[in-house]
Amino acid sequence: MKIKKFSLERYFLENESDDTLSLSDAVCDPLKLNELLDLGPSDSLARLYELNLGYTNSYGNRDLRKAIASLYSGTIEVEDLIAVEPTEGILVALNCLLKPGDHVIVGYPVYEPLYRVAAAIPCNISLWQANPGHWQFDVDELEKLFRHNTKLIIINFPHNPTGVNLTHDQLNQVIDLARKHNCTVFSDEIFRWSEQNEVDRLPAVCDVYEKGVTLSGLSKSFSLPGIRVGWLATQDKRLIKKFSIFKDYTTGCASASSEVLALMALAAKDRIIQRTLSIVESNLVILDAFFARHQDRLHWVRPKSSLVTLVELVNDDLDDLAKALLTKKSTYRSGFSFVPETDKRWQELFSPGIRAKQPAGGAVQV
Ligand SMILES: Cc1ncc(COP(=O)(O)O)c(C=O)c1O
Repeated sequence: MKIKKFSLERYFLENESDDTLSLSDAVCDPLKLNELLDLGPSDSLARLYELNLGYTNSYGNRDLRKAIASLYSGTIEVEDLIAVEPTEGILVALNCLLKPGDHVIVGYPVYEPLYRVAAAIPCNISLWQANPGHWQFDVDELEKLFRHNTKLIIINFPHNPTGVNLTHDQLNQVIDLARKHNCTVFSDEIFRWSEQNEVDRLPAVCDVYEKGVTLSGLSKSFSLPGIRVGWLATQDKRLIKKFSIFKDYTTGCASASSEVLALMALAAKDRIIQRTLSIVESNLVILDAFFARHQDRLHWVRPKSSLVTLVELVNDDLDDLAKALLTKKSTYRSGFSFVPETDKRWQELFSPGIRAKQPAGGAVQV
């Protein structure tokens, strides 16, 4: 498999330093270890002290898998999921689901690995493009993309980078189409639980579609990207075994300490999600004013879910802007956004108070 570089990651690596405020994260203010220990069950610290730091079960700690299975509505049992690092889950699943020459439909714009791994297999890819301007995905357009050899539809809702979500009806239509064409749906649901209104929370694809595979994890809505815990879930037990066989060549098993931390996080799920949503809520108020003030230069669609939103520059060139921001001396002050010292235009744009960071390619974390 010859895979092209993950250009967004490379961009970060090449351009970030300790004093850079990232405009490109899709995570709200990650939790500190002491915050997690405070939120988790009272014996959390003891559990960590007593932890055996050997290899762990390749499918994931059984208690952890039980806690993950309880996030779903009964169709997913402990045996129907495997712990993976979130990005690893994309590599593992797509390699097991696809072979060279398969036709794949990918929602676009897209979190890069969801596209790049399928392209590297190599598969033939059709893009299901969100409509620019409002970024809605039109299911009638999806229907037109099917071919006789379409194997897989790759979706990601709530969506990175636009922040849009499907409606319940639209998700049902996507699944109906997949069923009609005997296709698997690979559904990246890592932003699930970031819906500002619970009625907008879609069912997990692994729960509602017998050929659905859900990827999820603790990196986004749980604000714990550093523990590297995610999972793949599907009703198809044979697939879980295939994933496990492939995983022998990637991480093999999860880190023992991360599994315990993940268990704590899942036990404290409601409080952690509430923390994330309250950051989003307060930042959205600031962003409302910010975008109202700069509507002649910036356009956004206020997200109802997800932790990001895609900002379009009305006249400015994105590359020029990125270069200008990177080459100007910038400062980071706690509680402030970063302010290029010398460029008055951008000083005006980035006003005090935005607590979160802002994603690349024009996406802004809320
Ligand atoms: C849509 C989506 N899926 C998966 C991932 C992978 O998560 P991680 O970076 O924790 O592996 C990300 C990370 O940004 C993402 O945005």
